[in-house]
Amino acid sequence: MHIDIQISSWSPAFKDAFFRLNREWIEADYPLEPLDIAVLSDPDAHILAGGGSILAAVANEEVVGVVALRPIGECIFELTKMAVDVPWRGRGVGKMLMKAALREAKQLGAHKVILYSNTKTSGPAVQMYRKTGFREIPLERGLYERADIKMEYPIEKIPVQKTLHSRLPAPDPEQIKFGEIVSDHMLIADYRDGAWQTPQIVPFANLDIPPHTLALHYGQLVWEGMKAFCQADGRVAIFRIPKHVERINRSLRRMAMPPIPAGLFEDSVRALVEVDAAWVPSSPASLYIRPLVYATDAQFGVKISETYRMIIFTGPVPVYYAKPLRVKVEETYIRAAPGGTGAAKCAGNYGGALYPSQLAREEGFDQVLWTDRSPECYIEESGTMNVMFVIGDRLITPPLTDTILEGITRDSILTLAADMGVQIEVRRIGAGELLEAYQRGELLEGFGVGTAAVTAPFELIRFREHDMRLPAVQPDSFSVRVGRVLQEIRTGRREDVHGWNTIV
Ligand SMILES: Cc1ncc(COP(=O)(O)O)c(C=O)c1O
Repeated sequence: MHIDIQISSWSPAFKDAFFRLNREWIEADYPLEPLDIAVLSDPDAHILAGGGSILAAVANEEVVGVVALRPIGECIFELTKMAVDVPWRGRGVGKMLMKAALREAKQLGAHKVILYSNTKTSGPAVQMYRKTGFREIPLERGLYERADIKMEYPIEKIPVQKTLHSRLPAPDPEQIKFGEIVSDHMLIADYRDGAWQTPQIVPFANLDIPPHTLALHYGQLVWEGMKAFCQADGRVAIFRIPKHVERINRSLRRMAMPPIPAGLFEDSVRALVEVDAAWVPSSPASLYIRPLVYATDAQFGVKISETYRMIIFTGPVPVYYAKPLRVKVEETYIRAAPGGTGAAKCAGNYGGALYPSQLAREEGFDQVLWTDRSPECYIEESGTMNVMFVIGDRLITPPLTDTILEGITRDSILTLAADMGVQIEVRRIGAGELLEAYQRGELLEGFGVGTAAVTAPFELIRFREHDMRLPAVQPDSFSVRVGRVLQEIRTGRREDVHGWNTIV
């Protein structure tokens, strides 16, 4: 069931719920402590009068969760009194409240937010705080007997050095190619001494890299590709930031590079898009966001770098009007091997894929259909996209393995297909099975799916000496329908029921 939660700031009508939810939550494991009683019985005096804030998650006009920001010092707030009603637990309400509270803390001018918790009774919450960027600090005794951990979230406003030579107005997106134009600013964050440092936003500029920088030699370089869209109401939204954070962190771990705290990544992307908001073209064109992380140790022996740099830059890109693609089932070269790095978005995967793609283009194809080179020729991806087929009334896509990149468009389309009542089969599919389906007249669609194109339909699939010519794409083809729905969600023209957009 879809959970529609509005995060509301405090209303006196919430007072009972604030008291009840907290009391029930605390009393389930601990006695109420004096500070709890004081704050809960008179939140107006203990939170609001001091310049703090209380947020309530409201669903169906019921308060289902609460959290407070209690001022405890100059520009310091305690994230406290987080309680979620029992039927709503485990459904992301706590995370939504926490994120909204951190945004609110920023608005209130906080430099840091601290919290107390208990690792035994609130293990998953503590995990969530850690993932968001809260870090453990020494716990003093006396405030809450029940606390065994104290954490801090530094809210450092990302410093911005604005360019003196803006290249605005941005060119008409219809007149540019993908990847050709970059916006005015970029964000830089360095990793050293075992921690990610405060990022900064500076004018877009060349890098000064010593020739013996590790990333240039041994490929510790990971990147992401995501988009921001102008919404129907003029605001700007970034699509599925949390999924991109998860993926860049999986890629980083695979390449022995340090993961980035989710909060740091999200704040960085948002801040940069906000600074260059004037570069976001009107929909359906979009602002492409390219985060990359590379090893910066200057040393030419093979080793794991101890220092890294994350750079995020953006650039307007036109909408991709996909001309149907001619693809070739690739049986000589593979993109990724079991146990290799295919599931990571690391530079080497792309370098290795260029030559087979070039050969395919010389033979008159647009792209290769990567396989696992087994006798069954199981299909893996298409160029730099995931791949889907419609056979009869079923949508089929290969399962995620360590040779396939977990596409965020793939996940979005599978979610929307389920919403549309389509029969989905996530399973291996061999080129031979595709051919048999084609010969029976059941192979109706084949298409790549990815951030740049959304869906890129195939008109022809070559497998050995066989040419499978797919039916012409129609307005009611699945790839077109689902692509349209996804595009409407990304651009705020359809309700974002899955909560995929982050408004900047
Ligand atoms: C190898 C590869 N597969 C699949 C995808 C699709 O991923 P997403 O939908 O997140 O763009 C990409 C996108 O960059 C890719 O590089």
